[in-house]
Amino acid sequence: MTGEPSSMFEAIYAGAEAGEAKPPWDYGAPRPQLVEWAEARDLAGGGREALVVGCGYGADAEFLALLGFRTTGFDFAPTAIAAARRMYPASKVNYLVADVLDLPRKWQRRFDLVVESLTVQSMPPEQHTAAAQNIAALVAPEGTLLVLATTRDEGSEVKGPPWPLTRAELEEFASGGLILRGVERIESGTWWRAELSRGAGGSTSHARQF
Ligand SMILES: C[S@@+](CC[C@H](N)C(=O)[O-])C[C@H]1O[C@@H](n2cnc3c(N)ncnc32)[C@H](O)[C@@H]1O
Repeated sequence: MTGEPSSMFEAIYAGAEAGEAKPPWDYGAPRPQLVEWAEARDLAGGGREALVVGCGYGADAEFLALLGFRTTGFDFAPTAIAAARRMYPASKVNYLVADVLDLPRKWQRRFDLVVESLTVQSMPPEQHTAAAQNIAALVAPEGTLLVLATTRDEGSEVKGPPWPLTRAELEEFASGGLILRGVERIESGTWWRAELSRGAGGSTSHARQF
């Protein structure tokens, strides 16, 4: 381990492969905060494209694929991506190794639904703005970004990882034409669930709501 964040995550996933503790964030199923959001909207992909950021073992990506989205899941930890492919051998999800800070240009404005759960807060605070902007740039015209993160009060110090998001950091996802449509504080105020969207043709109004 070099001390770099990528090495830290890769080491945790590799340790789990070797029989050590499973990653502490691994829920073993789609995140209830995503499932609840999807069910409240009767979410159906209908062949539209979804992307799961920092997908780890892929439970959220599999959930979206079952709802009918053509789904891509990416993570910068190759061991996590290899494990996801192995866990779901018949999966329709396209699992890829990629870094939030260095994403393929062809992904820009491509995805109708982007789900970001706990990835940005796992990155050092000085990377939060760039990460949020990069993720926002992936959302297609009329598309939606769902952000799940744990909360931190403005001005409070935290010794991460993780580095939970302040309200101001959450609002940094509203960049490049994305509009913050709704913010909930759930789980007794300890989690953010935020929905952002882009208008048709990239405009900032009349976005289609999932
Ligand atoms: C706290 S885990 C959350 C995993 C999953 N999204 C969830 O909600 O359970 C953070 C994940 O993001 C990945 N990750 C962290 N920084 C990343 C980056 N810069 N690019 C891509 N993946 C990253 C880690 O490897 C890890 O799988």
